[in-house]
Amino acid sequence: MIINQILEEAIKKLSNKKILSAHLDAEILLSHIIKKPREYLLAHPEKKLTQKQVSSFKFQVSRRLKGEPVAYITGHKEFYGLDFFVDKNVLIPRQETELMVDEIMEQGTRNKEQGTIIDIGTGSGCIIITLAKNLNSKFKIQNSKFFATDISKPVLAIARKNAKLHNVHKDIKFFQGDLLKPIINNFSKFPGRAPRSGAGKIQNSKLIITANLPYLTPAQIKNSPSIKYEPKLALSAGADGLKYYRKLFKQIKNVSCSMFRVPCFVLCEIDPSQTTKIKQLINKELLSSQIQIKKDLRGLNRMVICSINLRQD
Ligand SMILES: C[S@@+](CC[C@H](N)C(=O)[O-])C[C@H]1O[C@@H](n2cnc3c(N)ncnc32)[C@H](O)[C@@H]1O
Repeated sequence: MIINQILEEAIKKLSNKKILSAHLDAEILLSHIIKKPREYLLAHPEKKLTQKQVSSFKFQVSRRLKGEPVAYITGHKEFYGLDFFVDKNVLIPRQETELMVDEIMEQGTRNKEQGTIIDIGTGSGCIIITLAKNLNSKFKIQNSKFFATDISKPVLAIARKNAKLHNVHKDIKFFQGDLLKPIINNFSKFPGRAPRSGAGKIQNSKLIITANLPYLTPAQIKNSPSIKYEPKLALSAGADGLKYYRKLFKQIKNVSCSMFRVPCFVLCEIDPSQTTKIKQLINKELLSSQIQIKKDLRGLNRMVICSINLRQD
């Protein structure tokens, strides 16, 4: 079979299943199989495929027809122009989440400041790896410190693998544990801690906490068949979807400020419907915080930024 013929056949089948991205999906799967960029398919429509390539493609299309996301079939997803390895253990990085990276990159380039960045619930590592790669190389903002946590061991193995792929594995420290807890517990091991002050502080001029934690309610999960292949651990967050943010804010509130005696910013990705409730939560748990809401490309409230004045000891 030739490229054009097999693509047409697959697009027809995918469209019949009401898969809106039928064209794109078929092209991504075929270019993955023949290990060529998508442009190659357009430039060589008459190219004959081997029998092995044909049967692999048909098998992958059959998986897509059952609803499996393309990223899990190919094992890849692009985020902020970088390629990330993904499998069923991790959430597939979303375009909306690039907003968080954009915000920090903008601040970083504007202020040329060093900082400490802690990514909570790192998943594939897409946020912290993109930041480490861009802040430390592209913009030459050297010496920022990067940390990441996740509750799941298999998830962290993937994040570490991605960090290695992008050659930032020496710049990021990964910890397994509950939200901010492993960072608090391991604080004494951080480089840059003031050794004899008795009250070390996070090094550098500011602390940024990024958190794209699970934020869906049981009803939202039930009504979104497209996410049925993704891990519940990455999605489900109690009756109002705010279980993890509630806990994170409590952890931040209870951190001894001798540890975090620097300006602190927390960036959280949310569902637009949670805007009012998360503001109330921040006001309740993190007094004297300033809150900003940022919209995604569709004009929906997607990110909360709060700058916190942690009580000084
Ligand atoms: C919505 S996913 C986001 C992954 C990644 N940050 C991204 O943007 O693609 C949430 C992540 O939080 C992790 N997680 C769930 N509960 C956690 C907890 N109590 N402490 C730390 N991480 C947790 C999950 O394993 C998952 O990887």
